[in-house]
Amino acid sequence: MSKNNVAVNVEGVSKIYRLGVKEQTSEHIAEMLWGFLRSPLQNFRKYRSLYNFDDIDLNENGLVGGQRDDILWALRNVSFSVNEGDVVGIIGGNGAGKSTLLKILSRITPPTSGNVTIHGRVSSLLEVGTGFHPELTGRENVFLNGTILGMRRKEVTQKFDEIVAFSDVEKFLDTPVKRYSSGMRVRLAFAVAAHLEPEILIVDEVLAVGDAAFQQKCMNKMQDVGKEGRTVLFVSHNMPAVSSLCDRVVWLDHGQKITEGPAQEIVGKYLLEGVDTTAHRVWKDPSSAPAGKFARLREVRVISKDGDIIGHHDIQEPIGIQMEYEVLQGGEVMLPHFRVRNDNGVLVFVTLDHDPKWYQQPRPAGRYVSTVWIPGNLLNEGPHFIECNLMTRLPDILQFREINVVSFTVTGNMEPGTARGDWPGRLKGVVSPALKWETQYSKD
Ligand SMILES: Nc1ncnc2c1ncn2[C@@H]1O[C@H](COP(=O)(O)OP(=O)(O)OP(=O)(O)O)[C@@H](O)[C@H]1O
Ligand SMILES: [Mg+2]
Repeated sequence: MSKNNVAVNVEGVSKIYRLGVKEQTSEHIAEMLWGFLRSPLQNFRKYRSLYNFDDIDLNENGLVGGQRDDILWALRNVSFSVNEGDVVGIIGGNGAGKSTLLKILSRITPPTSGNVTIHGRVSSLLEVGTGFHPELTGRENVFLNGTILGMRRKEVTQKFDEIVAFSDVEKFLDTPVKRYSSGMRVRLAFAVAAHLEPEILIVDEVLAVGDAAFQQKCMNKMQDVGKEGRTVLFVSHNMPAVSSLCDRVVWLDHGQKITEGPAQEIVGKYLLEGVDTTAHRVWKDPSSAPAGKFARLREVRVISKDGDIIGHHDIQEPIGIQMEYEVLQGGEVMLPHFRVRNDNGVLVFVTLDHDPKWYQQPRPAGRYVSTVWIPGNLLNEGPHFIECNLMTRLPDILQFREINVVSFTVTGNMEPGTARGDWPGRLKGVVSPALKWETQYSKD
């Protein structure tokens, strides 16, 4: 399979729901067919009432003219495309439209307007149901899913043992799926979706269910699927997992696409959203800048090792915090210092300027830039806030103190060399140093 062929193209897709009418979606074609066979007329009527928006005036872009409060936009004019072999994350807050988008891509529900083109065999694992028929046994469901994916019985048989081994539900293979716990269902469903060689694998929030070991297995499997040149679309609220697994990320909010781009960058922006500070603060007008008798603050920046101002930093990279200030009246010993807090308000550390050049040295009047470097693999993942201070020494007189003046986010990944090893979940603690580990082995 060559790269750069489009696998999924989403073009101006909108989905509206009528408020107060609950759509009964079937999580899988098998279930949907079963439902239709059981009560065709009832379902047909329901289908008509749900998807008939004749009374709503859609313009040529498929968008509603005027304001209406009886409908809800689950998706609004969303477009993006995914190339073959891309592993793409879809992120956004609760109700952003992520699951709706995946249901449309899996053909479980149609878009109200817009087009979806898919090149390749899709296998999906969606959040609510797990793609199984509840009355059938685990074994029967595996074969049914294979058939739906267009595989021959022999092909499914060849994969069967692998699926069972991965899912760890061997004892329950001949039990109807309705008797499974939700964890067991998800295990089997993921095993089926990932092993039946789909060309496009769609996974919604699988990491929310199941224990840590299973989550890790799923992550590894998805990584393998991606490496084999197949396409993966992955929805998750677990940002370290998204940024390490995905090449690209599409960010949705209230049904609309906010932006898309390289995974780390978009995840960093997403984490900082709603946080009312920036990586750069300037006081253009000196008269409004924080100041004391001897010094005045002019700028605070968060920089990368290359000197660029950026608000998101890979956990392995150093982070520079820089203050630019004027000494208004020379002759004092100055002590610039920063405090770093995390998003729980916990003071992670205080750092004071101990540059030997200025140690106990009076500073002449003029402009100064003081930078401190926080090494990589020190701060834990997540947002951090900087307090910027400067005081004179002996007597100790505070010249300025700016709390939460700039902020930045540390983004994690599962590359070797960080504290998390290959653990996908959140690591607690205010710091996350990559300490040295050694494990010795002996046979007895
Ligand atoms: N079947 C439905 N009938 C009516 N409204 C729906 C239906 N499915 C979703 N919605 C609404 O559409 C919006 C988008 O929901 P969706 O499930 O796609 O969000 P999400 O991004 O997956 O959220 P979460 O992170 O909580 O899973 C929500 O406001 C939701 O209430
Ligand atoms: Mg969802």
